[in-house]
Amino acid sequence: CGIVGYVGSQPALDVVIAGLQRLEYRGYDSAGVAIQTADSSGQWSLATDKRAGKLANLQKSLAEAPLPGGTSGIGHTRWATHGGPTDANAHPHLDDHRQVAVVHNGIIENFAQLREELAGRGHTLRSETDTEVVAHLLAEAFDGDLAEAMRAVCRQLDGAFTLVAVHAQAPGVVVGARRNSPLVVGRGEGENFLASDVAAFIAHTREAIELGQDQVVELRADAVTVTDFHGAPAEVREYHVDWDASAAEKGGYDYFMLKEIAEQPKAVADTLLGRIGTDGRLTLDELRIPDSVLREADKVVIVACGTAFHAGMIAKYAIEHWTRIPCEVEVASEFRYRDPILDGRTLVIAISQSGETMDTLMALRHAREQGAKVLAICNTNGSTIPRESDAVLYTHAGPEVAVASTKAFLTQLVACYLVALYLGQVRGTKWGDEISAVIRELGDAPRQVEQVLQTMEPVRELARSLADARSVLFLGRHVGFPVAMEGALKLKELAYMHAEGFAAGELKHGPIALIEPGLPVVVVVPSPRGRSILHDKIVSNIQEIRARGARTIVIAEEGDEAVAPYADHLIRIPVTPVLLQPLVSVVPLQVFACELATAKGHEVDQPRNLAKSVTVE
Ligand code: G6P
Repeated sequence: CGIVGYVGSQPALDVVIAGLQRLEYRGYDSAGVAIQTADSSGQWSLATDKRAGKLANLQKSLAEAPLPGGTSGIGHTRWATHGGPTDANAHPHLDDHRQVAVVHNGIIENFAQLREELAGRGHTLRSETDTEVVAHLLAEAFDGDLAEAMRAVCRQLDGAFTLVAVHAQAPGVVVGARRNSPLVVGRGEGENFLASDVAAFIAHTREAIELGQDQVVELRADAVTVTDFHGAPAEVREYHVDWDASAAEKGGYDYFMLKEIAEQPKAVADTLLGRIGTDGRLTLDELRIPDSVLREADKVVIVACGTAFHAGMIAKYAIEHWTRIPCEVEVASEFRYRDPILDGRTLVIAISQSGETMDTLMALRHAREQGAKVLAICNTNGSTIPRESDAVLYTHAGPEVAVASTKAFLTQLVACYLVALYLGQVRGTKWGDEISAVIRELGDAPRQVEQVLQTMEPVRELARSLADARSVLFLGRHVGFPVAMEGALKLKELAYMHAEGFAAGELKHGPIALIEPGLPVVVVVPSPRGRSILHDKIVSNIQEIRARGARTIVIAEEGDEAVAPYADHLIRIPVTPVLLQPLVSVVPLQVFACELATAKGHEVDQPRNLAKSVTVE
């Protein structure tokens, strides 16, 4: 989500709306503002407006019913997590007496309990959001000092949150709090700004302060005070922003895709947040499909398109292994036309980043008509696919702007693992111990993805050296096979290059005829532990292609020395449980495709002929 706060002497509404325009890429399913305003008798109140849909809807509403003026205020553009994208769920949220307005980015994990306690104390909660509890808590805690109230409230919150609030009786003060998602102060002359990124205020000032973890900031026109959650003065990082405005919204990266690749550790962490209990068991409370239905399902069918289909292919390995339920996976566009066999005991999983892909939507409608239960895995709250499904598990990747999917894919994988593990947990399979171990290891995935991202320079160098290649092949076995297909898809999408992903065992049945001297072949090597027979087989495959002149680019676990003699280029990934390896092995392939496309001078965020969301069949 995008957050803006302003205190100064300019009309706050104009500054806030202009800031939100620059942040709209962070979320566009609803927007809202709150301005501090005084009437002729000097009585202060908050003037607010908020609307579902794009920022333009809010601007239209403000044009029809203008708000009274003021020189301090806050605004928000939302990417829904808790609660669908409606007017009521749009931010800011207010308390019962409309004294506090708060905007929020992130997830408050203990909101259900706080909500219940607030209701017990006589508060009326009007939205389905986790954010609203903060408005009520701030109203209770406020005793003239909003920063003090914010600190007291933050100490009660679990989860990841960035909050910005104003109080009608604290005019000229905007308060922010940060745990996890970024919050940046912009320092002006007689005015100060607060935003989720510098893009919001770069037109006014380039002097910024980045708040650290667990800090609260009080903003006045002429002062910025930062403390920790207990009121002790805090250290902050001051810096000068030298990006231009378009680089600023890309977080300083040249392309959204690079930014989104870099955001993957956080996207994975956010998708796991609140879903693994302290007892190491999964809690997917949001699934409205009763456990009894999950227990009785005798077949799982996954439908999806493009990158999401590759996530589905990986999910099949996980679901069948951990749950012993037969699982089919099919591209959504083929599904309904072959008259698939479905009934009330079939669980259909529809995976879609946008939630609007027509092929996937048609497949799920067909499945429901046949009586199957449909679970959507989706990144876009309130979109059509989750609305038409029986249940939904949201990925929390945040908005993905680049057409070629990266961070959404990683979070789709996480969601698929969660569903597979949850099915295993509910059905009590013989893999109980393995399931608990994997749930623990999943918690380490964000760190491992980060580790891979830190070692990508040789991959970028290699990609640049291959800009003139005519074709690249990708090979994998087991879950490495869909990863190979995804690596090839990325290269097609971004570099407009011939690329194919094969199951390494199929090589000898045809594709090996394509191997000619110098042909780059990327091989995703399964872990030598666990199913080591697969590892031995792929080592033979690498030897076979190398003997025919291929230039081998090998992605292998740290410590896997057996592949080293046959690798012209060796890319290392961390040791993971066998089924989780795609979370780390796909990352070098994303970086490789992005860099190669850049070297060829292509526009990586918007490749030719492609659209982010394809709403025709
Ligand atoms: C389009 C995009 C792909 C995406 C596919 C599925 O073709 O270009 O990047 O993987 O749609 O999109 P979805 O939103 O359903 O995940």
